[in-house]
Amino acid sequence: MKKSDGTMDKLVSLCKRRGYIFQSSEIYGGINSCYDYGPLGVELKRNIKDLWWNAMTRDRDDIEGLDTSILMHPKVWHTSGHVEGFTDPLVDCKKCKSRYRSDDIDTEACPKCGGELTEARKFNLMFKTFMGPVEEDASIVYLRPETAQGIYVNFVNVVNTARRKIPFGIAQIGKAFRNEITPGNFIFRTREFEQMEMQYFVHPSEDEKWMEHWKEERFKWYEKIGLNKNKLRFHEHSKDELAHYAKAAVDIEYEFPFGWQELEGVHNRTDFDLSRHQAESNKKMSYFDESLGSRYIPYIIETSAGCDRTILSVLTDAYDEEEERVVMRLNPSVAPIKVAVFPLVNKDGMPEKARKIYDDLRKNIKTFYDTGGAIGRRYRRQDEIGTPFAITVDSDTMEDDTVTLRYRDSMKQERYPVDNIKNVLKDKLELK
Ligand code: GAP
Repeated sequence: MKKSDGTMDKLVSLCKRRGYIFQSSEIYGGINSCYDYGPLGVELKRNIKDLWWNAMTRDRDDIEGLDTSILMHPKVWHTSGHVEGFTDPLVDCKKCKSRYRSDDIDTEACPKCGGELTEARKFNLMFKTFMGPVEEDASIVYLRPETAQGIYVNFVNVVNTARRKIPFGIAQIGKAFRNEITPGNFIFRTREFEQMEMQYFVHPSEDEKWMEHWKEERFKWYEKIGLNKNKLRFHEHSKDELAHYAKAAVDIEYEFPFGWQELEGVHNRTDFDLSRHQAESNKKMSYFDESLGSRYIPYIIETSAGCDRTILSVLTDAYDEEEERVVMRLNPSVAPIKVAVFPLVNKDGMPEKARKIYDDLRKNIKTFYDTGGAIGRRYRRQDEIGTPFAITVDSDTMEDDTVTLRYRDSMKQERYPVDNIKNVLKDKLELK
């Protein structure tokens, strides 16, 4: 793994200072690897989830949505193989007690102190808790480590109620939990995170075709939300890297300041999950294909993205330092605030005029209004949080009813009539 060039520290500090991301429970010293999204972070996250949801369920017409519960029948996790197989190899240093994933380190002895390491033992990543008042084995339930299983156990419900024919998909966004041995790199690897998963059900003979399709579609999506194409690549899994459920897998990776890392996995899960659920539940998981006149258990091509990781890639990709300013070159589609409205000075009717423009815009476009301080400082503030446009009301506005529109990236300014500014912005933001 490459050493960070300092960008991560600067980004973490900016995120806290400007209200993107805070350490969870900070007043108590924080809790390791848990984070809270602040006022800007929550808007960014919502934009990313909406862009994903729209790409899956609006831009195409072969995918249904679903929102399933985090707690599921414990048999789900036995059947899926997670109780048995969702483990990482854990080693401890006998001297300094540091803990590692043994596949993360390439030394025989502790990387920190050189001490002797214990034999690797399997550590299950699922969080356990108890359902009901009695803390006994019979009441153990798990916090889901992936949202996918909620989709599989509802496959027949969706086929029957949405009257879908194969091929079709089911999409879900939701929290997942993993008791990671080594969380880290800010929101890259945490113990609570959000997944955006889609399971696409296909005829077993068409799995490779659809795997190719989804690989390409998902790669394009990251370009569409503004990530630098040169920092994206595929990583095909070799046989010994494959998860217990997969026949083939490809990761979409992004080059973070700390190296190339997985953003999303596209997996061919075959009929593994549905067959196992059918065998264990004694409920039919097969599908009757009218066009073929035959019944089969479909294969599943899964696209599994991490929402928080996508956010981190978007933020690191956008972060830029110039001599005079720090600028977040966020794609307008993900930017938390799309436009800021400023009166040049806080008098001569300018605040009233600016406020009116703000009130008109904010119902359709996320807008920020700011009167305080020198105009240059106000622009810099918006540059640092990634607001792509700023509108300024100045003395000319009071004469001819035009305003300046300033571009974050080029810092160029253009004048537009007040009564046209909303349409101009809608055009630039590609809003309907
Ligand atoms: N349903 C398949 C599945 O969960 P995965 O490769 O284990 O596959 C999918 O996880 C995605 O979830 C990853 O590519 C990553 O973006 C995200 N993810 C997994 N573990 C994570 C963690 N501890 N913190 C943040 N994101 C995580």
